[in-house]
Amino acid sequence: MHLRLGAEGGRAAALLPNGVSISLYQESILKSVSLLLALCLLVFAPAVWAKPCAVTISGNDQMRFDQNAIKLAPDCTEVRLTLKHTGKMAATVMGHNWVLTKTADFQAVANAGLRAKIEDDYLPKADPRVIAHTKVIGGGQSSTITFSTAKLVKGGAYTFFCSFPGHWAMMKGTLSFG
Ligand code: CO
Repeated sequence: MHLRLGAEGGRAAALLPNGVSISLYQESILKSVSLLLALCLLVFAPAVWAKPCAVTISGNDQMRFDQNAIKLAPDCTEVRLTLKHTGKMAATVMGHNWVLTKTADFQAVANAGLRAKIEDDYLPKADPRVIAHTKVIGGGQSSTITFSTAKLVKGGAYTFFCSFPGHWAMMKGTLSFG
């Protein structure tokens, strides 16, 4: 009975006056500490070690992305994003890219993209407002990029869009992190 109480919980064992129960109590403390350490590792590990996350999004000949919201897990440290063009039309006619900016910058960058060339992926050159972007691709092609979530603020408002002239009105969505 004493042994059973001791094994069941430290509090019950501590009340028992014999040595066996006390040593069981100490053992249960050690077990608790070990469990606590294990939990700490589980909780803090994602923040310490790189946690890549993959996102795949498609664009088609109907000038549409297949999703309008992307959610990144709070422990994601590096995004590996693949854009696929599931249509058949050429990049010069129905080109798509995936561009990420703060929502506050989206409209200005999209407008600036109208004046850029396809060689520059319809984006201003080296624009710091562009957080990440793929190449402009045509039907059957794909483009993969990786970028760090260190560039993002948790809870911030971000918009992704295609900067091919005229596409952003239809091809846009929100990205959230955390
Ligand atoms: Co497009």
